Amino acid sequence: MKQNSQTLVFTEYESIAELPQEEQELFRASLEAAKDAYAPYSRFQVGAAVKMTNGEIFRANNQENAAYPSGLCAERIAAFAAKSNCKNEKIRVIAISAISDIYKIDSPVYPCGSCRQVMAEYEMVDGSPIRFILGGKVGKIHVFDGIANLLPFIFDLDQFK
Ligand code: THU
Repeated sequence: MKQNSQTLVFTEYESIAELPQEEQELFRASLEAAKDAYAPYSRFQVGAAVKMTNGEIFRANNQENAAYPSGLCAERIAAFAAKSNCKNEKIRVIAISAISDIYKIDSPVYPCGSCRQVMAEYEMVDGSPIRFILGGKVGKIHVFDGIANLLPFIFDLDQFK
């Protein structure tokens, strides 16, 4: 028997302004998208902006429902819209952010487990890592290259072979 460990790698930026220009623009697009979220129950408005390999950008936000589980997260709506409209393109980057009129969001917002699983499958079928840019309106920004840094020990499609 032996104990193992695995390292997760991410880059931390002090603020949005420190991000490279292209990533800053995508992140700001996610913040804009968050403004239009339908989140009357949680009042936690999440925005996502997906950039595809052809440069197209798809924005989305969380959509809630009085039957709570019927709602869906911003990043899954953005990824599904992107893949629905650009099935032959790969997801290159996704920026995710949140705003709220009742909560103070000053640290990165991380995608939920279901969203991570969805991104993992797109990475696996496309054979191309996705960059995740995560933050709030203020505070630090965390950038992860590849879902393995957010979802270790992924349920692997290769197990179907
Ligand atoms: N939410 C997202 O849109 N993305 C996440 O990664 C976490 C949570 C939404 C779901 C729900 O509408 C609200 O945020 C509070 O959980």
